[in-house]
Amino acid sequence: MSNAVEETSRNVIWAPQPKQAEFMRRTEYEALYGGAAGGGKSDALLIEALRQVDIPHYRGIIFRKTYEQLSELIDRSQTLYSLAFPKARYNEGKHMWKFPSGAKIFFGNMQHSKDRTNYQGKRYDFIGFDELTHFTWEEYSYMFSRNRPSKNPRSRKRTVCYMRAATNPGGIGHGWVKERFIKPADPGTRISEEVTVRDPEGKEIKIIRDRVFIQAKVFDNKALLDEDPEYLGSLALLPEKERKALLEGDWDSYEGQYFTEFRTAPDLNEARDHGCTESAEQLLQERRWTHVIDPIDLSHGESRGWRIYRSYDFGYGKPFSCAWWAVDYDGVLYRVLELYGCAGTPNEGVKWTPDQQFEKIAEIERTHPWLKGKRIEGVADPSIWDGSRGESVADTASKYGIYFSPGVNERIPGWMQCHYRLQFDNNGYPRMYVFKGCNAFIRTIPLMMYDPVKPEDLNTSLEDHVADEWRYMCMSRPIKPMRPEEKKEVRFVNDPLDLLKERRH
Ligand SMILES: Nc1ncnc2c1ncn2[C@@H]1O[C@H](COP(=O)(O)OP(=O)(O)OP(=O)(O)O)[C@@H](O)[C@H]1O
Ligand SMILES: [Mg+2]
Repeated sequence: MSNAVEETSRNVIWAPQPKQAEFMRRTEYEALYGGAAGGGKSDALLIEALRQVDIPHYRGIIFRKTYEQLSELIDRSQTLYSLAFPKARYNEGKHMWKFPSGAKIFFGNMQHSKDRTNYQGKRYDFIGFDELTHFTWEEYSYMFSRNRPSKNPRSRKRTVCYMRAATNPGGIGHGWVKERFIKPADPGTRISEEVTVRDPEGKEIKIIRDRVFIQAKVFDNKALLDEDPEYLGSLALLPEKERKALLEGDWDSYEGQYFTEFRTAPDLNEARDHGCTESAEQLLQERRWTHVIDPIDLSHGESRGWRIYRSYDFGYGKPFSCAWWAVDYDGVLYRVLELYGCAGTPNEGVKWTPDQQFEKIAEIERTHPWLKGKRIEGVADPSIWDGSRGESVADTASKYGIYFSPGVNERIPGWMQCHYRLQFDNNGYPRMYVFKGCNAFIRTIPLMMYDPVKPEDLNTSLEDHVADEWRYMCMSRPIKPMRPEEKKEVRFVNDPLDLLKERRH
């Protein structure tokens, strides 16, 4: 224990440092303590779980992704819990602490998404997730249903139900965690959301659920820096992206991002490296060093003749994704419009039937000024031709006059085509653009990560529906990679400046 703690009182075995106290004081239903490595996050979570252990029927649980990772947390609990409650006992087989009152704290894992059903029918008053970005949204949100108060007819004490989490940026769940906790508000600001829940009779009730993000910096953990002053130095030696994520708690840069070259605005650094002196506005107008551009009105001028394509990835419980593309006379792709079936929560589908989806798609193609009257060729996920369970999705589409050819589903070559499209030439021109307003593409493509097991592939457990449909589109018009132009240089036998100097003398 640190000096700071011992100074307070000899009997205090753990006292929160100021940032930990800020996290532990929050009254929101969900709170995430996140940011830099070593901010004291796991300690805060372990101690928070103890808050209601004097209530006999209290049950808390703390998750980490795998049991191997849990062992670190369990080791730390052995120190902290047995110091605070000498009569508490740890049951190794059940991964459970039992406190003198009868209260229990469990340690749980969810190595695979299906493991979440192990918790079916169980209920916990306190649910904690350590390293939240290692979990998917499905895993985390499933536990909302398990967060119910325990009742004991013999005890008048009531438990309070809430969820707490701690994390560094950068795991497979980085995207949804950032969307849910970091983007909506500044750290420390309450985020409120109205949600609909059903009571036991099935009646819908609207309730306000709130959450908050507390930003941890490594500098907030004085105990750790006193104990291990070298720690900062070792973080500083990490590669840049990892360092920014782990040392500075930066959510915008992290290891494993798949499309690092995608630019939503002109990249001035890259432009300057290539000798461009124009301003960002000028570059945007010239459509250089950026992929996202202002829409071009396809119903006027020469772009009226550009051919239009449609790409589609089916989804029901997960979002479906449909996009329309224009191809100019040089073969450059423009993602011009999209229809993304997302229910508002990342990676949750709107649950439209295929009929509903194609009715809407057909309506857009009939009425949108850029599309109406055009012959539109479609490309889609090859699995939509599967008719083994009745009418295939492709058959349904054809009833609405929407036709597709099957996309080529070779993943790695497909992703390479996406990369080639994004490459900038020496003047900053890529071979595909995205119109502002194609928000599903702009939101989800930066969130794509490498698969932890299959090198070079994209992690399929993420919100990859736009990426898939984009890949089918790119594979339908394959291109060659761009080779950077070699710089031509003139070599002089003698340095001309020396010759000039000689002549002057
Ligand atoms: N309030 C505290 N009092 C004393 N020591 C503390 C306190 N908070 C944290 N520590 C110590 O600092 C070390 C790092 O804390 P902790 O493991 O909680 O950080 P973390 O943010 O979870 O780190 P990581 O990002 O590596 O998971 C721990 O070993 C713990 O002993
Ligand atoms: Mg930790």
